[in-house]
Amino acid sequence: MKIKKQITTAFLAFIIGIFVSPTPLLAQKNKSIIRLGEANTQNFDQGWLFKRFGLQADGSRLEEPKGIENLSYFDASWQKLDLPHDWAITGPFRIDLAGETGKLPWKGIGWYRKHFMIAKEDANKRMFIDFDGAMAYAEIWLNGKYIGTWPYGYSSFRMELTPYILPGKENVLAVRLNTEKWDSRWYPGAGIYRHVWLVKTNPVHVGHWGTYITTPDITEQSAKVNIDVTVDNQSKETIEATLQTQIYEAGIGNNIGKSVANSNDIRLTIQPGGNTLASTIINLTQPKLWTIEQPNRYFTKTNVLVKGKVVDTYYSTFGVRKLEFTARNGFLLNGKRVEIKGTCNHHDLGALGAAINTSALKRQLQMLKEMGCNSLRTSHNPPAPELLQLADEMGFLVWDEAFDAWKTGKKPNDYNKIYDEWHEKDLKALIHRDRNHPSVFIWSIGNEVMNQRDIEMTKHLADIVKREDPTRPVSNGYNDPDGGREVGAVEALDIMGVNYFFSQQARWDADPRYANKPTIGSETSSCVSSRGEYFFGKEYQNWQITSYDSAKPGWGCSPDVQFKTNAQYMHLLGEYVWTGFDYLGEPTPYGSDETNLLNFRNDPSKKEELKKKLEEMQKSNPPSRSSYFGIIDLAGFPKDRYYLYQAHWRPDLPMAHILPHWNWEERIDSIVPVHVYTSGDAAELFLNGQSLGRKTKKPGEDFRLVWNEVKYKPGELKVISYKNGKEWAKDMVKTTGKAAKLSLKSNHSQIANDGLDLAFITLRVEDKDGLLVPRSKPEIQFEVEGPGEIVATDNGDATSFESFQSSTKHAYNGLALVIVKAKKGAKGTIIIKAKSNNITSAQTTVLAK
Ligand code: GAL
Repeated sequence: MKIKKQITTAFLAFIIGIFVSPTPLLAQKNKSIIRLGEANTQNFDQGWLFKRFGLQADGSRLEEPKGIENLSYFDASWQKLDLPHDWAITGPFRIDLAGETGKLPWKGIGWYRKHFMIAKEDANKRMFIDFDGAMAYAEIWLNGKYIGTWPYGYSSFRMELTPYILPGKENVLAVRLNTEKWDSRWYPGAGIYRHVWLVKTNPVHVGHWGTYITTPDITEQSAKVNIDVTVDNQSKETIEATLQTQIYEAGIGNNIGKSVANSNDIRLTIQPGGNTLASTIINLTQPKLWTIEQPNRYFTKTNVLVKGKVVDTYYSTFGVRKLEFTARNGFLLNGKRVEIKGTCNHHDLGALGAAINTSALKRQLQMLKEMGCNSLRTSHNPPAPELLQLADEMGFLVWDEAFDAWKTGKKPNDYNKIYDEWHEKDLKALIHRDRNHPSVFIWSIGNEVMNQRDIEMTKHLADIVKREDPTRPVSNGYNDPDGGREVGAVEALDIMGVNYFFSQQARWDADPRYANKPTIGSETSSCVSSRGEYFFGKEYQNWQITSYDSAKPGWGCSPDVQFKTNAQYMHLLGEYVWTGFDYLGEPTPYGSDETNLLNFRNDPSKKEELKKKLEEMQKSNPPSRSSYFGIIDLAGFPKDRYYLYQAHWRPDLPMAHILPHWNWEERIDSIVPVHVYTSGDAAELFLNGQSLGRKTKKPGEDFRLVWNEVKYKPGELKVISYKNGKEWAKDMVKTTGKAAKLSLKSNHSQIANDGLDLAFITLRVEDKDGLLVPRSKPEIQFEVEGPGEIVATDNGDATSFESFQSSTKHAYNGLALVIVKAKKGAKGTIIIKAKSNNITSAQTTVLAK
């Protein structure tokens, strides 16, 4: 009944017009949970007004008038938009801006206003606004009255609106963000870049992030499920309430599955203005464990009853799984060793900027999964809630990270400015929000923080984490592992996180002081490359980097060297590669960000050497605006390295991959080294049918097969790989003809018309036989007909200054990307076309449903 009522209310509000009350997202007709938490949660993303003050995109300043927060402020001329919104991703890229933050004009003061109606009948309700993240220094007013602030742009937070809400009238929520006060080592984005929610409750309700679910005892037959619920009483009377919790299996796509267990009724007395914590234990028989391969999840539905009537309903998720971290045998999930094959990732979604989009994130995670990645490090900040929902659902373990700086900053205006007042609130917000997710398995209090040797600070932060969630270990990513160990700061941690420096592992292993600390490569490799670029006798050219997967900064190593270390020290928990995807900003080695020097804090000569390089880099001011670290480029096209990781991380998947491409007309009879990445143990290479010899990997030593003496001749280069003496996989590259036609292929044949779902369409430049022309860079014009529109375009080139919003884009080494969405509510066939001079056009279709 309740469900029906919500839908009707939303529908009515929809037709009323501009003050749309958004659709409730919980317990909809298909019983799918889109938003965990309070049942009466409405998405609040639609119909905002935006204006930018302070620093403008072109570098000029626009003075910020007084009184913008007031109800009557004239905002009719402001830009209309829906959230999530990143005001800086529209650029333009500016050569004078710092490469480390993407050469995008993200600094400024952004104001958002939203007019909305609250029904008269809601006069007795408590109203809250939940921000999943707002970059940065958010200040919030309702109807001209100040509500509160939350400076850290990556934290999720709630503000209560009740005291100033005007039932039956127009209300105005005003949000001021200020990125001028924030410094970052990567592109942080700017704006209300995550979702916003309006939550309505009765005065007696489950508190914010008010459930905490753990599974302390698990056997095959049963699991003990501990459920702690905090119930708030915001009424003026003492309340006698009853709490009931039901457990459901989670179906596909967050559908609520069958009911599997119920709690007994718990009776509570809650004082006016107070809250009460109620604990209950439910035994789950024959629990379906959460594993990486079968990420079985459960939902809980908690009802609060007063005088026999349900006054509040709250949904949570959990998984039944056992985590064990050992110093000798690595990490065990449900008793079985799992080597962490992880990637670090920043939060931006390439051409979409920092604005969260679930279908874009899902595409990223699917690619990582396909590569064999089983874990994500949310470097170096709290992720969007959607990341954890997807990780739960898809079977990724998550290293959930809080900070890149503590009390001492890496940049003048980074977290150091707010550490004293906010570190505890931010840490609690992270843990309370995320602690029911089965995917979250390690809390990280930091990354290469300047205070990593500070025993007291480390212990203080670790203690907060332990107090809020004693069921998961605490770690910290060290780039001064010796320092942290020598002084003893590491003692406060359950897991030692080491960024790079694994050449020291034998020494650490021999030291009895470190013997009992499980250790993980919290950051590894930092190999850099540009998709489809190959240089001979050098690694760097034209602000690009060779794709032979050898280049790395001074502190890094090739993927192969790290694999070797991991194989040598099997007690390590595994590694997080820097990074899964290229990201906006930090274009090492073409950046001049001085925080790079921090990686050599204990090595003055290397530090000096790097300092000189950075100074030179500053003078030449490269056009590079995004990173080269990704295994996958910014547009989501795998670089060669993808197959090196796949070969190693998925040894049972028959695959082989040859590099480079075979179009070297300027190198006829010159050497073109050939590398083969395969999950086989040997391979034979053939050029135009002639064998160039068979090579075998030395186990634990070789992770790629290399033919260094190949003299280039046009034609066909083919590899056959073998495993245990049997043919295992093949790959081939061919010299292609010139660019003759375009092709388009979408990752989805149909998309939802909710204005959020996206199709990612790959454009290929092909020769007449349909082979990818590897070095082609023609300009492409994209067009869309029918009920769709272009959201962004990209090509993965870290030096491109073409706007992400432009429908024109140069292909980069044969590929480009167009991202398309359906117009809201429209149905039918979207036709996507691609054209280029003197090349046959292409078109494809996506159905909007
Ligand atoms: C690490 C740092 C990362 C990134 C990386 C590049 O030291 O933690 O955020 O900067 O270096 O190699």
